[in-house]
Parts: sequence; structure tokens; C-alpha cells
Amino acid sequence: MAKREHWGSKFGFVLAASGSAIGLGNIWKFPYIAGQNGGAAFIFVYLICIAIVGLPVVIAEILMGRTTQRNPVGAFRKLSGSKFWTAIGGLGIIAGFIILSFYAVIAGWSTGYMIEALRGTFSTLRTASDASNHFNSLVGDPTWMIGFYAIFFIFTMAVVFLGVKDGLEKGSKIMMPILFIILVILMIKGISLKGSEAGLAFLWNPDWSKITGQSILIALGHAFFTLSLGMGALMTYGSYLDKKSNIPNAAVQIVLLDTLIAIMAGVAIFTAVFATGQDPAVGPGLIFNTLTVVFGGMTGGYIFGLLFFILLTLAALTSSISLLEVVVAYFVDERGWSRHRAVLILGSSVFIFGIPSALSFNLLADYTYNGKTFFDIVDFIASNVLLPFGGLLIAIFVAWIWGFDKALIELKHGAENIFKDRSGLIFAFKVFLKYIAPVMIFIVFLHSIGLLESAIEQVKNYWIILVLVIVMLVIILSRNRMNK
Ligand code: PHE
Repeated sequence: MAKREHWGSKFGFVLAASGSAIGLGNIWKFPYIAGQNGGAAFIFVYLICIAIVGLPVVIAEILMGRTTQRNPVGAFRKLSGSKFWTAIGGLGIIAGFIILSFYAVIAGWSTGYMIEALRGTFSTLRTASDASNHFNSLVGDPTWMIGFYAIFFIFTMAVVFLGVKDGLEKGSKIMMPILFIILVILMIKGISLKGSEAGLAFLWNPDWSKITGQSILIALGHAFFTLSLGMGALMTYGSYLDKKSNIPNAAVQIVLLDTLIAIMAGVAIFTAVFATGQDPAVGPGLIFNTLTVVFGGMTGGYIFGLLFFILLTLAALTSSISLLEVVVAYFVDERGWSRHRAVLILGSSVFIFGIPSALSFNLLADYTYNGKTFFDIVDFIASNVLLPFGGLLIAIFVAWIWGFDKALIELKHGAENIFKDRSGLIFAFKVFLKYIAPVMIFIVFLHSIGLLESAIEQVKNYWIILVLVIVMLVIILSRNRMNK
């Protein structure tokens, strides 16, 4: 078997993993769900979810990868020896396959919008309805859709084709700093607009009345998507790490960077939206329908519009390569394929599988099941079922099946100084991974598949109290066990 590829440096790993985390989730999705759920208060809840559920699971995933030096299937098999858990790894590969197929469709919009920006289209859009008509006419055109979907896909395949060090790592090292600089420029531009204070107030002044059980669940679900959790992307990236690397340290950096970029995108977008008197709560069209009008009307809008869609496309690219890498790593590790063969065959397969998603906005728009198009269905299955389910099982697996104590021994490699004389830290990690994360994820999962809605109806606001009580009980119980 060929020697396993590795990252050139720990910094390269952190950048690549942050590149996976930072994507459409941060720049397209986070602002619009924050907009729909009331701004600051929602962001506060989201930050808590990231810290108490996101971080422990990020650590768990990277740890499984590094310990086994395998793709998700190989990792579960090596640590458990059981067929059931190996199949859970397989679900991750399938999730990667499915997510990439529709993720690249939206990334294709972004790629196409770079061309729109270049052509100066935005300055012809006067109102939000102009913009949405324009958007609908573009995505309604199958040639435009498939064309840009294909272009984006070719870039994704090219990067993965080049391998871990020369593709994933080098690509992230080039793209991530550009992304950061563009975002800083856009943020400064946004803040300098007249009337931007209203946008900042929307982000920082919480209106707690907007927080509902539903919005807490959305925040937690998004924490998963944005951190690339639950399908083994970080596990696969972790498998290219060596034993000397400090996982908790890297995980904190990845989580902080991902959060920072989401907040920066929020500032850039909401300052512009409020300064031009637009509605922050329009939903998924926020970027394509609202922001294009904003760019059209502002000084320097041509260049800022172009920068913005370059930013969005690069962010999507550093995420889509991690999705393809999960699938490729499986075929390389488990089936003995060469990387090049895996990229060509699997990349093309995912592309073909995604065509109905790309056509869901035009030719296939009327072919629906329960009102959902093909795109809606695959998005739903992957984001709302497979990711939370995978995340739940990863937390349970590391904490209970592999066993927290064994996992901790592995985690200490490279992180000796963090854990030295810090039993409090270890205790906290244990409680979060063993109890809090699984319980919280389980709730999101139920919600995702719709079971919880009716239950919430009955218990209304009391369920949060119920969860807190359970969590407290569990903490107390585990304390007793630890003290024995
Ligand atoms: N985290 C990515 C984003 O925010 C999406 C993603 C999910 C990437 C799962 C890989 C795995 O856009």
C-alpha cells in the first residue's frame, strides 16, 4: 500500500480544516438565518451551541482520524471491529457524496454571479424585485445552471486530484488569506455606509423575545453544518495528521476562525442591507436578491460586488474539496484505488448525481414529492438527517464505545501541556462529549425529522427546562461515578 499522505505543517492542516468549515454555510446561510431569527439573540444562542456541542465533536472527529490514519469507514472499523459502526462510517461517505452534489449547485450560482458582477449587471437592478426576477431567470435557464455547476465541479476535482499537500493544503493556503482580505474590505465598506449603525445594532442588540424553541434548534443544526461535522470531513482531514500535532489547540483555532468569518460576513452583509433600507429577513435569497441591489446602488459597487462573489466562490471551493476528499479517501484506503482514478470516477459520479438538483430550478421544478423538489429532498436528507445522526453517533462512539478514557490517552499525544494538572478541563470535556453533546444533538435530530414539532406543541416552553434538568442530573450522576 502506498504511504499515507500527510499535511506539510500543522498550520496547513488548520487552514485546510477551517477552509472546509468556512463556506456557503457562513456567508450565505448564517446571515439569512440570523436575519430570519431576529439577529443578536440568535447569534448568542448559536455561539453557545458552537462552544458546548461543536467544539467537543470537532475534537472527537479529528481524534478518530488521527488515531486510525484512515477514512471514516476504516476509522470506525479499526476502533470498533464491529460491522454496525463500520456502516456508520459508510453513512458519512454517502453523506459527503450527496452534500457535494447539491452544494456544488449553489456554488455554481456563486460562480455564475462572478460573471454577472463582471458584466456590470448589478447596476441595472433598481429594486429587490428586479434582482429576484433576474435571479429567477438565471437559475431558470438549464444551460446556465448546468454550465456553472460543471465549471465549479471541475475546479473541485482539480484541487483534490493534486493531493493532500499540493492540492488541499496549497489551495487553502492561497484561497483562505484572499478570502479573509476580501471580507475585511467588505466589512469596512459596509460599516462606512451611511445608516450602517442599524445593521450593527441588529447584530449586537439582542431582542430576546425572538428566541423560540425552534430558533434554538436551527442554531444547533447550523452549528453542525458550518463546522462540517457529522460526516467525517474533519475525520478524514485529521487522518493526514501525525501524532505530534496538538488536536485541542487546532480544534479551538478552527472553531474560532469559522465563527469569526460568520460574524464578519454578518457585519458586511447587514450593514449594507440596513444602510440601503432592505429587509434582513427575506431568507435564502438574501445574498442573491438583496445584496446585488445593494451593490448596484453603492459607490464602488462594481468592484465590491465582484469581490463578494469571488469570496463566496472561494469559500465554497475550500469546502467542496473536503466533501470530495472524504469519498476519495474511502476508495483509496479501502478499495486500493489510486487518487487520480478515484477523483475522476467519483467526481464524475457525484456530478451526474447532482444534475437533477441543478435542474430542480428549471426543467424539473414541477416534479415534486410533497411539494419538495429533488434538490430540496437531497438537501433535507443530508443536512437534516445524515449530519445530525452522524454527529450523534460520533459523540456516542468516542465517549462510550471506544471509551472516553482510551480516547483521552490518544488525545494527550501532542497536547501534554494542555492537560497537565488540569483535571477540571478533562472533566468538562468528558461531560460535554458524553452527555451534553449527545442529548442536544438528539433533540436536533428529532426536530430535523419532524418528530419533535408535535411534542413541542404539547410541552410548549417547558421542554428546555426539561432538558436542563436531565443534563444536570446526568452531570451529578457522572460526578458520583468519577469520585468512586
Ligand atoms: N461547513 C461547510 C459550510 O459551512 C459545509 C460542509 C458541511 C462542508 C459538511 C463539509 C462537510 O459551508
